Amino acid sequence: MKKSLTALMTAAFMAASLAACGSSKAPETTAAATTAATEAAGTEAAGTEAAAADTTAATEAAGEETYTTVSAGKLTIGTSPDFAPYEFYHMNNGTPELSGFDIDLAQKIADEMGLELQVVPMDFDGILMELQNGNIDLGISGFSPSPERAQTFDFSDVYYSGGQAFVIRKADADKYKDYAAFDKLPVGAQTGSIQMGLAETNTPNANIIGLAKVTDIISELVTGKLEGAFIEKAVAEQYIKNYPELEIAWDVEYDTEGSAIALKKGSDLLPKVNEVVNQVLSDGSMDEYITKAQELASDTDNVYEGQLDANGQAAAN
Ligand code: ARG
Repeated sequence: MKKSLTALMTAAFMAASLAACGSSKAPETTAAATTAATEAAGTEAAGTEAAAADTTAATEAAGEETYTTVSAGKLTIGTSPDFAPYEFYHMNNGTPELSGFDIDLAQKIADEMGLELQVVPMDFDGILMELQNGNIDLGISGFSPSPERAQTFDFSDVYYSGGQAFVIRKADADKYKDYAAFDKLPVGAQTGSIQMGLAETNTPNANIIGLAKVTDIISELVTGKLEGAFIEKAVAEQYIKNYPELEIAWDVEYDTEGSAIALKKGSDLLPKVNEVVNQVLSDGSMDEYITKAQELASDTDNVYEGQLDANGQAAAN
């Protein structure tokens, strides 16, 4: 597949500016994004045409099928790499490499579409906004396809099922036996995640604190700024390997099952995304991605979670 230099440069520029946005955009409110998204839903076709017009080169033939993406010849995805084994950095001889079963799944989808994978790391809170603004093609970040989100976004079929957990310090196990014990106490969840909803449902009288990165939730739990936190179970289990002073107090009941890929409403990428999801689920590839991710994530000395610094290096953890 041939790409013009201009297209490559445009893609590189877009990626650079996206990365810059990703790190500075966190404070924008979800409410605004939702309103914009709802309005945009009505004029979806017009928006898509306009986007296609200035990125004509983005329409490329892969086999017989043609996909329009935000950057020519690329599949651009947004993810929040604070979420082992879904997405995280694994240090390969000192070089941070994006890893995790979400990343392998993304690579497979890009391969099947004949596109080059472009991963844009950003805070979880910003992913759906970037999707709605047409800066990324897919959100692959352990997204729960909740009914609220499904009003504004499309979701693929579920590719992974995991539960929800409530995490505390091991030393407090005797002190905290139920949610009522957390009244007025600081309880954390990731900003923009369904775990914020779980906190509101289960610990309505706690002082609920939203933090941008799961990494921050963990360190605040360890240092005693938080007394408890709602975290995806597989992720909690992984962090606890690194922080044995923490433990899962109990499993949390939840409504939305599993993880799915987020797309802009009406995206014409959805059928192919679902085709690949169902293919990797049935041919055993997904199981391989999960096993590999768990192995890499268990190499705790070489795991880095969060965002890299401006030089692309892992900051001191
Ligand atoms: N499943 C939760 C949600 O969709 C949390 C996902 C957080 N993902 C991440 N990479 N931090 O809200």
